[in-house]
Amino acid sequence: MRILFLNGPNLNLLGTREPGIYGQQTLKDIENGVREYGEHHGAQIEFRQSNAEADLVTWIQEAQKSADAVVLNAAAYTHTSIALRDAISAIKTPVIEIHLSNVHAREEFRHHSMIAAVCVGQIAGFGHNSYFLGLQAAMAIIQSREP
Ligand code: DQA
Repeated sequence: MRILFLNGPNLNLLGTREPGIYGQQTLKDIENGVREYGEHHGAQIEFRQSNAEADLVTWIQEAQKSADAVVLNAAAYTHTSIALRDAISAIKTPVIEIHLSNVHAREEFRHHSMIAAVCVGQIAGFGHNSYFLGLQAAMAIIQSREP
């Protein structure tokens, strides 16, 4: 089971970025926890972050071959990026949308996700646990698709 975690802009600042909204953990802390949990459950975890939309598009395209599922926190690009939506639509690999915060309880511009309709589902509002829930969802989808 190869599970790729992709993180969009400003998530490299987790830990110091608006901790009241996004929590105290750094992205590295989250990665370490997810890796430990995933490996314990037989998943191979790859974790990446970029502030550039183009990197995220390229990684999603590559996931068609390199991953069995993608867990994606597209951050602000969630609300703006047709390019990410098209990349997700273009691959067969299932993509799960996640957010640390409950985007639906925040500013109106965060209520709309450009990618939600082409993802398997959305997990939002559980802080760093959104990553673990995303991992569990990814493992369940992969297992349900195995012959
Ligand atoms: C976020 C929510 C987005 O609206 C925001 O732009 C982010 C982080 C989250 O994880 O809660 O950067 O994706």
